[in-house]
Amino acid sequence: MAKTLIGLDIGATAVRAVEIDHTGPVPSLLRLGQVRLPAGVCAEGKILDIQIVSDAVRQLWEQQAFSSSRAAVGVASQQVVTRALNLPEMPLDQIKANLALHARESLPMAPEDTYMDYQYLGTTATEQGVAMNGLLVAVARDYVDQLTDVIEFAGLIPAAVDLDGFALTRAYANGLAQLDFDIMANQTVPYDATGSAPPRTPGHVLVHVGATLTLVVVVSGGLPRFVRTIMMGGQTITDALADTGSLNPEQAERLKMEQVDPNGQFGRIIQNHLLAFSDEIQNSINFYRTSGNAVELADIVLSGGGALMIGLGDTLARQINLNVMYGSTLNLLDTSHVLADQATLSAADPFLPLAVGLTSAPVN
Ligand SMILES: Nc1ncnc2c1ncn2[C@@H]1O[C@H](COP(=O)(O)OP(=O)(O)OP(=O)(O)O)[C@@H](O)[C@H]1O
Ligand SMILES: [Mg+2]
Repeated sequence: MAKTLIGLDIGATAVRAVEIDHTGPVPSLLRLGQVRLPAGVCAEGKILDIQIVSDAVRQLWEQQAFSSSRAAVGVASQQVVTRALNLPEMPLDQIKANLALHARESLPMAPEDTYMDYQYLGTTATEQGVAMNGLLVAVARDYVDQLTDVIEFAGLIPAAVDLDGFALTRAYANGLAQLDFDIMANQTVPYDATGSAPPRTPGHVLVHVGATLTLVVVVSGGLPRFVRTIMMGGQTITDALADTGSLNPEQAERLKMEQVDPNGQFGRIIQNHLLAFSDEIQNSINFYRTSGNAVELADIVLSGGGALMIGLGDTLARQINLNVMYGSTLNLLDTSHVLADQATLSAADPFLPLAVGLTSAPVN
C-alpha cells in the first residue's frame, strides 16, 4: 500500500493541509486544517521568510496530528515554465533522460538550473509520422530547494513536489469525468455534427484565484493541456482599495467582502479590477485556443478564496462566452470520517483543491 502523503498548500495567507485515505472506492477525507500566515512572508508563490512559514507548518502538524510526516507541496510561480513539447515518437524514459537537450531551445533559463519533468499527453498523426504531444515543466532549482527547506525545518519529509496546476487537475478528476460524460451524453456542446468523427472530450478552464496569484488550467480528458499563472488575486483588490488612502488594509479587506455600491468610488475600483481580471482570463483562453490541438471549451470552474469576491463569477460569465460555475472538491470526497461539521467543511471547500490534489501527487 502506498504510504500516506499529506497535501500541503503554502499560500500567501495561510498554510493548509489535508489527509485523505485513497484506498477505498471513494477517497475519504480524514483531517484538514490551516494556520494563517502574517502578511509578507509568502507572496506570488514565493516564500520570503522560510522560518515563519516553517513554524506555521510545524504548528499545523501539531494541531491536526496527521498520521504521516510525508508532505507533498505544490509550486506555482514565475519560476515554473510550462511549454508544449511535441516530439517524434520514442519511449518516454528516453525523452525524460534527454529532457535537457529537448528543453534547451524552449526554456528561458539554463536547463541545468532547473528541475524538469515531461507530462505526456498523447499522440497525433502528422505528415512526418506519429508525434508525441506533451508538456515540458521546468522549475528553478533554488525555488524547489527553498520549499524543501521549509518542510524539513518543520521536522517533516518533503515526499513530493508537484506543479499546482497538476494538483488542481487531480483534485477535480472524478467530478470532471462525470461532467464530460453528461456533456457528451447531452451534446450541449456542438461537436462534429456529421457524426463522422468521435466527439472530442470537452475542455474545462479551471481558475483557482488566490490572494496574490491565479492559476489557470485547461483540462480535457482528465489531463492538463495548458497551465498559466496570472499575478493577480484577491489581494490585488484589497491593495487597490487601500491605495485610495481612505482605508487601512484591514478595512479594505473587510469592505470588499460586503456588497459595495457599484457607482461609488470603491465600487468603481472593484468593477475595474474585476474587468481587468476577466481580460487576463480571456487572454489565457485566447492563447490556449491559438496553441494548436485546442479542444472545445465547455466552462470555467472557479475555486480559491479570491473567487469568493462578490461579482467575480458574474463578470466572467458576462465578459467571456462560457458557463461559469463554482467547483467543489469536497463533494467528490467521503467526508463522513472527518471531525468537522458541514458548515466548517463548506466554508473551507473553496480553499482546499490544491491540498486535496497534492495528496495524490506522484512520488519520485
Ligand atoms: N468572502 C470573500 N470575499 C472576497 N474575497 C475573499 C473572501 N474570502 C477570502 N477572500 C480573499 O481570498 C484571498 C485568499 O484566498 P486563498 O486563501 O485561496 O489565497 P492564498 O492561497 O493564501 O494565496 P496565494 O494563492 O496567492 O498564495 C484573499 O485575498 C481574501 O481577501
Ligand atoms: Mg493559493
